[in-house]
Amino acid sequence: MTRVTLTINGDETTSEVEPRTSLADFLREDCRLTSVHLGCEHGVCGACTILLDGRPVRSCITLAVACEGSQLRTIEGLRDDPTIAVLHRAFRENHGLQCGFCTPAMLLTARDILKRFEAPDEPTIRRELAGNLCRCTGYVGIVRAVEAAAEAVKGDRT
Ligand code: FES
Ligand code: FES
Repeated sequence: MTRVTLTINGDETTSEVEPRTSLADFLREDCRLTSVHLGCEHGVCGACTILLDGRPVRSCITLAVACEGSQLRTIEGLRDDPTIAVLHRAFRENHGLQCGFCTPAMLLTARDILKRFEAPDEPTIRRELAGNLCRCTGYVGIVRAVEAAAEAVKGDRT
């Protein structure tokens, strides 16, 4: 076992983990952060996306011990985030979720898009979302939702 200290959703925590434990398994099983979904478990579907030091990463192909000293955030830690609030509304109004399996990771990636692009057009949104697969295949509503959210936060990308 290896000792690892991380800050997860604002709280510092120290745990003993097997060196081979993925960050996704650590977050789900040790921290009970079940918004971190596992689909492919080899870095393709994006369902396990979390924010590592502010950047979206695939937690299924990241080792927990490699994150020593890092700041992690899952969707559970963004309840009060204004951009996530705008995205929630936009996803609801534009039918951006179906079964919801991909949605937590989709919201984290969409938030990252809104932080980096002031007015992302449809091709940009589709390209940026390419690493998040929706098994329900309903990308039209998701893309519309991100476009609507981008319009709503225009000029306020802090
Ligand atoms: Fe991690 Fe699919 S579960 S990319
Ligand atoms: Fe079902 Fe995306 S809404 S997987």
